[in-house]
Amino acid sequence: MAAPSRNWVVMVTAQTPTNIAVIKYWGKRDETLILPVNDSISVTLDPSHLCTTTTVAVSPSFQQDRMWLNGKEISLSGGRFQNCLREIRACACDVEDTKKGIKITKEDWGKLHVHIASYNNFPTAAGLASSAAGFACLAYALGKLMNVKEDDSQLSAIARQGSGSACRSLFGGFVKWKMGKEDNGSDSLAVQLADEKHWDDLVIIIAVVSSRQKETSSTSGMRESVETSLLLQHRAKEIVPKRILKMEEAIRNRDFASFSQLTCADSNQFHAVCLDTCPPIFYMNDTSHRIISIAEKWNRSEEAPQVAYTFDAGPNAVLIARNRKASALLIQRLLYYFPPSSDDLDSYIVGDKSIAKDAGI
Ligand code: ADP
Ligand code: DP6
Ligand code: CO
Repeated sequence: MAAPSRNWVVMVTAQTPTNIAVIKYWGKRDETLILPVNDSISVTLDPSHLCTTTTVAVSPSFQQDRMWLNGKEISLSGGRFQNCLREIRACACDVEDTKKGIKITKEDWGKLHVHIASYNNFPTAAGLASSAAGFACLAYALGKLMNVKEDDSQLSAIARQGSGSACRSLFGGFVKWKMGKEDNGSDSLAVQLADEKHWDDLVIIIAVVSSRQKETSSTSGMRESVETSLLLQHRAKEIVPKRILKMEEAIRNRDFASFSQLTCADSNQFHAVCLDTCPPIFYMNDTSHRIISIAEKWNRSEEAPQVAYTFDAGPNAVLIARNRKASALLIQRLLYYFPPSSDDLDSYIVGDKSIAKDAGI
């Protein structure tokens, strides 16, 4: 190593928003590489409300790779962290800071250890896609630290190996994860369909029904669904490919009626697959079901749909209002049915869809 002493530390901090799928990923064809059984499409959320901030540091004085999540040390021994670290290290390039007299070569990156500190500003493992923001931020921050030259789609294929949904958080706006055909996963990556300015009328409101950690993680839930649900096979082969085309068209044309119909139908089918799993998985609860009824009734009482709803692997509702006026009316309705004094909801989070990645160094 060309560095003059062992006292130096080089650090990078990045911030990455989470994303919520409007056409869901649920099921893998390869568990290790994290290759999905269908394409999926998501909206990247406003980072000021739901995002991960991760600092990665490297120093010759570090004895081993270590990570802290929300202030608590966690083990990096799981295959997912190791796969991401290995892939990023394989793409690392020379870094030179002449002012500090530090030079780290490609070979050095294989020997140096990293320390990672990550913080989610929203509930972790509660069905608000913390694994998506978390692993996207990790891949992005490590990529910056190690001077990785790969583009965001190639980086998304690395984030994917941490958590499937993470590949879509490398981009803002509307994003598609192409399932790919290759057995080695080289073509299973994310592409941006439209940037955050494309459809900026939309307003996203999250009703946090429960911030508690879910009982069944997404990883084990979808494994059980792949093993036992016939509906999942039908959905992946027959339903999703058609829906993806329609969703892309709805996004292109800013067609809210079609967007809303597809988003709600896909969320409901994903939860139907969970019910079709043996033993059945219940991610939604009574409050989630009441929110669906409120949205459905409202949409039916208007000439055109005003809101779309979607639920990930948890009870929390992600509501997408067609514009600011609809979002104000939606909040009024939610407050009427779930007043602040009621125990049914933990909180509301209001934001736009948007992009953000590099929080600076
Ligand atoms: P969620 O619905 O929140 O995505 P998952 O069950 O998919 O829940 O994933 C939760 C797991 O994701 C956590 O147990 C942890 O292993 C990982 N995770 C969450 N946040 C981060 C983060 N900031 N950095 C790295 N990994 C994270
Ligand atoms: C319901 O990406 O969390 O949120 O790849 O095993 O880490 P792993 O699972 P994860 O699954 C997300 C499932 C979902 C739908 C989606 O985000 O598309
Ligand atoms: Co997740």
